[in-house]
Amino acid sequence: MRDCYQGARIIVAGLMAVGIVCVAGAQGGGALRTVRDGVYTTQQAERGAAVYARECAECHGPTLQEDDGAAPLAGSAFVGVWKAYSAGDLYERMRKTMPKESPGRLSAREYADILAQILRVNGYPAGNTELTDRMELLKQIRFE
Ligand code: HEC
Repeated sequence: MRDCYQGARIIVAGLMAVGIVCVAGAQGGGALRTVRDGVYTTQQAERGAAVYARECAECHGPTLQEDDGAAPLAGSAFVGVWKAYSAGDLYERMRKTMPKESPGRLSAREYADILAQILRVNGYPAGNTELTDRMELLKQIRFE
């Protein structure tokens, strides 16, 4: 009986170890980052706000909430649409279709900065590292 109890303890300990390794592995891969993890800096969002004011505000409004014609870029309706996608998907949507009269006109950096500002206005926290403009990394950041 005592042997059996010991055996069960070893099995439970083993399963816990496997669980810990799995969790650590998933986080290490970066695949589980989300927009809640501080993926941009405040300074970057400031730059994004300036570009936004110049290039986007006439249609999307100064608070990003405009919905007469242009789609809102902040608030529950916006987040509701994008939570199924990644930061990379939103980046690509902006770069390929905005500003509406001349899509793709801005630099890769400027689109990343605007994305940082969009995250800030939607209440996601800033962090210590700037949001990248590299697509393969942006694709690993889930919207939430
Ligand atoms: C001339 C007006 C105009 C300007 C300027 C403009 N947009 Fe738009 N934007 C629209 C309209 C209209 C839509 C919705 C229809 C469409 O996609 O064309 C839209 C849609 C979007 C969407 C998709 C929102 C969603 O949830 O589907 C994003 C993101 C976006 N704009 C970002 C930007 C950014 C960033 C800029 C500045 C670089 C910008 N737009 C400049 C008019 C504009």
